[in-house]
Amino acid sequence: MAAKERTLIIIKPDGIQRHLAGEIISRFEKKGLKLAAAKFMKIPEELARKHYAVHEGKPFFEGVVKYLASSPVLVTVWQGDGVIDITRKMMGATFGFDAEPGTIRGDFSASRGYNLIHGSDSPESADTEIKLYFKPDEIVDYEFTDEKWLYGKND
Ligand code: RTP
Ligand code: MG
Repeated sequence: MAAKERTLIIIKPDGIQRHLAGEIISRFEKKGLKLAAAKFMKIPEELARKHYAVHEGKPFFEGVVKYLASSPVLVTVWQGDGVIDITRKMMGATFGFDAEPGTIRGDFSASRGYNLIHGSDSPESADTEIKLYFKPDEIVDYEFTDEKWLYGKND
C-alpha cells in the first residue's frame, strides 16, 4: 500500500465547544481515511502564528491567530491516497455561509471565521504543518485489515 499522502486536520475551538469533534472524525472514518496521529491541546499563540504564517499581513491574520489559540483543539493527521483533496472537499468552502450542504462547514457553520475545521491545502503545506505539531515518531503507520475492501486494491 503506497498511500503515504498525509494531511493535517484540526478540529478548531468552535468544533470542540460545539461538541462536533466526534461527528467530524466519524465522517473521515466512514470515508475510509486512516487516522495516523492525534493530539488534544490548547495551541499557544506563538504556534498559531506559525500555523497561519502564510496569511501574515492580511487583515484577518490577527483574528484567526487569536481564534485558533482561544480554546482547546483536536489536532490530527490523516493518511491515504488523495487525502488532501478528499478532506478539503469534505470540509467545504472556507466560509460556513458559502459551503455546500453535505460538507462539514456547509452542514454545521454559518460563520465566516468560526468554520470548525482546518485542513492542509497542498502536500507542501501538509508537510510543514504536520511538523509544527508532531515528531516523526508520533505518526503511526499501519494497515487496516479491510484495505482491499476500502480501496479496491488486490494484494
Ligand atoms: P483553513 O486554513 O483554516 O483550513 O481555512 P481555508 O484553507 O479554507 O482558508 P484560508 O484561506 O487558509 O484562511 C484561513 C482562515 O482565515 C479566515 N479567513 N478570513 N475575512 C476573510 O476574508 C478571511 N479569509 C480567511 C478563515 O477563518 C479561514 O479558515
Ligand atoms: Mg488554509
